[in-house]
Amino acid sequence: MDQDDFYLRAKAWQAALTQSFGGGQVYYAAKSFVCVEIAKWLKELKIGLDVCTGGELAVALAANFPASEIEFHGNNKSEIEISAAIKAGVGTIVIDSFDELSRVAKIAKDMNKVQKVYLRLTPGVDAHTHEFISTAHEDVKFGFSIASGDALIAIDKCMSEDSINLAGIHCHIGSQIFEVEGFKVAAERLVGVLASFRDKYSTQLPELNIGGGYGIAYTQDESAIAPDTVIPAISEVIKSECKKLNLSVPKVSVEPGRAIVGPTTTTLYVVGTTKTVTLENGSKRRYVSVDGGMSENIRPALYGAKYSAYLANRTSTAKPITTRVVGKHCESGDVLIPNIDLPEDIKAGDLLAIPATGAYGRSMASNYNHIPRPSVISVVNGTAREILRRENESDLLNLDVVQAPRALS
Ligand code: LLP
Repeated sequence: MDQDDFYLRAKAWQAALTQSFGGGQVYYAAKSFVCVEIAKWLKELKIGLDVCTGGELAVALAANFPASEIEFHGNNKSEIEISAAIKAGVGTIVIDSFDELSRVAKIAKDMNKVQKVYLRLTPGVDAHTHEFISTAHEDVKFGFSIASGDALIAIDKCMSEDSINLAGIHCHIGSQIFEVEGFKVAAERLVGVLASFRDKYSTQLPELNIGGGYGIAYTQDESAIAPDTVIPAISEVIKSECKKLNLSVPKVSVEPGRAIVGPTTTTLYVVGTTKTVTLENGSKRRYVSVDGGMSENIRPALYGAKYSAYLANRTSTAKPITTRVVGKHCESGDVLIPNIDLPEDIKAGDLLAIPATGAYGRSMASNYNHIPRPSVISVVNGTAREILRRENESDLLNLDVVQAPRALS
């Protein structure tokens, strides 16, 4: 992981917000990848942190990350998680359902606190099909629908609770999005809700969070959506809608995860075996097996995600041949790259590099087949440093609860 790249990307999002709004807050989405060191970097950068479980919250707190700069997300936060968040002094809890609204209100009341909250709204934007019909994409587990009226009911409920301070509204329309249009439609609909609030309560909600989801390039055919493209586009809509509806421009925040950490990281694999098969049509396919696979990168198997790969330990002038890069799991679907041209002379012991694996790679890693999860090494100014150590077999065995053998009768 390139630490400077992480810093530059995080700063670029904050700079774009400041440029467009004269302020605002970036909350890094911890789910894309977090460890204590990353939380420390974010603290230094004055970037906020979006956590969505007690586990992610624990990492932030272990880094002495300021709780006031944490947003707590999630569609099913437990009472234990909510209590831990309120006790820690988490800045904002993003409320996702009616059940949770009552739960947060009660827990805050019992603790004699007033908790700042946002409501997560579903603006009916299907960012991936480019259909922005108000009834579209309502069928999701997250948030309160604007179109159905649930959003306004939730607002009224928040306003009736003394232990809740409703400060703003939130939406997150999807992930790995390349078009600005979806964000613009969502922003417009959220500003509409701010106006409805003002009309009813004669005061304005001060904050608006437009979520994450900004797409990055995984292969040479793709290009990222840049902060200085998407933020001005969102800002234009928010400002013109606010003007039209006679609202002041709220404090705007965003939650990029992938766009900050994704491109910073390259996964390095050791090639273990190669083999060539003849396909039914007579053509050949060479398999290259690496020392990992679907356990540290489930994205190709789960989403059909595309990656590229490079020979990393030497240069080769050998002719490129059609190659399938596979992992070491006992499963045919354990394919990292189905088809890529790689030098014909790749052999056991070579290193293969797969770029852009920083987001949702290590963070979604499993121990399938009891493969210990890999380390994460940060590189800065030519110096490499482990920021998350490799798991070992003792780590795995530590979880086994072994009883003394039962006496046979
Ligand atoms: N905010 C909220 C409320 C979210 O649910 C997410 C991601 C983000 C922000 C950050 O989204 P980003 O900027 O990283 O796209 N595992 C999938 C991605 C799932 C995203 C879940 N929510 C993948 O590997 O593509």
